[in-house]
Amino acid sequence: MRKKIISVAAPNLGREELNNVIKAVKSSWISSRGEYINKFEKEFARYLGVRYATTVSSGTTGLHLALLALKIKKGNEVIIPDLTYVATANAVKYVGAQPVMVDVEPDYWCIDPTAILKAISKRTKAIIPVHLYGNVAAMTEILKIAKKYHLYVVEDAAEAHGAEYKGKKAGSFGDVGVFSFFGNKIMTTGEGGMVVTNNKKIYERVSFLKNQAQSPNNKYWHPEIGFNYRMTNLQAAVGCAQLGKINSLINKKRKIFQWYKKYLSGLKDITLNQERKNTKSVYWMTSLVLGRNIRKKIPRDALMKLLKKDGIETRPFFYPISKMPMYRKERHYPNFIAYNLSQNGLNLPSGTNLTEKDVKFVCQTLKKHLL
Ligand SMILES: Cc1ncc(COP(=O)(O)O)c(C=O)c1O
Repeated sequence: MRKKIISVAAPNLGREELNNVIKAVKSSWISSRGEYINKFEKEFARYLGVRYATTVSSGTTGLHLALLALKIKKGNEVIIPDLTYVATANAVKYVGAQPVMVDVEPDYWCIDPTAILKAISKRTKAIIPVHLYGNVAAMTEILKIAKKYHLYVVEDAAEAHGAEYKGKKAGSFGDVGVFSFFGNKIMTTGEGGMVVTNNKKIYERVSFLKNQAQSPNNKYWHPEIGFNYRMTNLQAAVGCAQLGKINSLINKKRKIFQWYKKYLSGLKDITLNQERKNTKSVYWMTSLVLGRNIRKKIPRDALMKLLKKDGIETRPFFYPISKMPMYRKERHYPNFIAYNLSQNGLNLPSGTNLTEKDVKFVCQTLKKHLL
């Protein structure tokens, strides 16, 4: 076993984060009010090119509030990709609606617009495209479908901070966009999230609901049941520092992908992330899908075990949502592409602290097992 473990996605934290947290502690504003909260929201909105951004306690709670603000409820269906993190589906269930799981594109691993079209019913109210592993979903086609069928679009941009499509940032296309700042994300606040929108009503509704539905003009008057889904000023202090270096974090992610591409060249029957035309992927996770021949030699799970022995941490792709016990009975399709990717895909170490030497070692080890 190697002494140094190469982890899959360690956060990149430095002096700026520490200084901001110290300032926040010294100010005594450690809960959900304080200068960093306002600063983080303003700067994130500016960075994304949207009118409004409001901090939340996680990406999951952000998705929940986004669906509540759009009045998605029991009796409604929401179309989601089968290949995503479970939070996308859970948020739909939290509001009493039904997720409908459809297949993803073979090349880009994001929700397939033709599969959306087939799944639309009288009960469909919204689509949640997920910008998986830092790529951007086919937003032109998705927005066209949404317009034609009068559906809302909630972008799950939890994994795609700063990704661009036709020069516009992921999360800024739909009615609402939701980000996660979990520790393994491109930028982090420990736990945390952001809801972004250009619609003032949605912004006000999310801000109201996350704050126990307290009347903005009447303290301790709560006309509805709300939630405590607020972010703390301490978290926002970290967030401001992270946002300050977002461009270098993204450049490093893209560089890591290029290193993998270089050092894995020559390895046949594998696929790495592919970038859609007119897209700037942020390669949150450089990922590898094993082809039919190579996995006869070594299946994905066996490969992951061998890598672990060599001190290399990897992650399997997500299980299809429609495979989970609580979602098996929900409407879904035989999503062959999602199922195949789920079984044969793995996320390689992609943290922005990685060096070229680390990536070279991972690639040499992969070649040792795969060639
Ligand atoms: C696609 C996707 N959606 C939603 C979430 C939920 O975010 P969080 O973990 O901050 O609740 C995540 C992150 O883990 C995610 O990857």
